[in-house]
Amino acid sequence: MAETLVINKNLPLSEIYASLLQQLNSLINSDEPLISNLANVTAALKDTFDKISWVGFYLLKEGKLYLGPFQGKVACTVIEIGKGICGGCAARKETIIVNDVDQFPGHIVCDSGSRSEIVIPLIKDEKIFGVLDLDSYQISAFNETDRYYLEILSKTLIQKLSFERIVL
Ligand code: SME
Repeated sequence: MAETLVINKNLPLSEIYASLLQQLNSLINSDEPLISNLANVTAALKDTFDKISWVGFYLLKEGKLYLGPFQGKVACTVIEIGKGICGGCAARKETIIVNDVDQFPGHIVCDSGSRSEIVIPLIKDEKIFGVLDLDSYQISAFNETDRYYLEILSKTLIQKLSFERIVL
């Protein structure tokens, strides 16, 4: 298919996500490398939501999270499990929404302009493979609707792609 997204940004948030996820389902190609697919997912999210300042994957390798495909400013390349919001999400194996990063003890600052964040785990059979991290320059940019659809996206990625063969 043509690699283009058609998103009406004036729709309610849930409808934007529904449209985005439907198009990502066509765009994600299980026969192509994991990194290529994840790169397009970050571009699609950044393109769709003006509130996103940074979006990217941190992927687990030998017990640490390493920077994967992303869109935005340069970021820290390695995060230990349990550290920061990303490491906390990987340790707890659950989504973390932070309305004000200054109020999150141990938040890892990659861009001092970032004000709020959501991190979604990539889990299969209780095993963590990485996290999807979205940052915003707005306070409280992410809500339960973001959580709901981004968790569906995470499950779709885990089902369609082979995270077992991550090459970093
Ligand atoms: N703020 C994150 C680090 C990653 S960056 O936001 C890209 C954290 O506390 O885990």
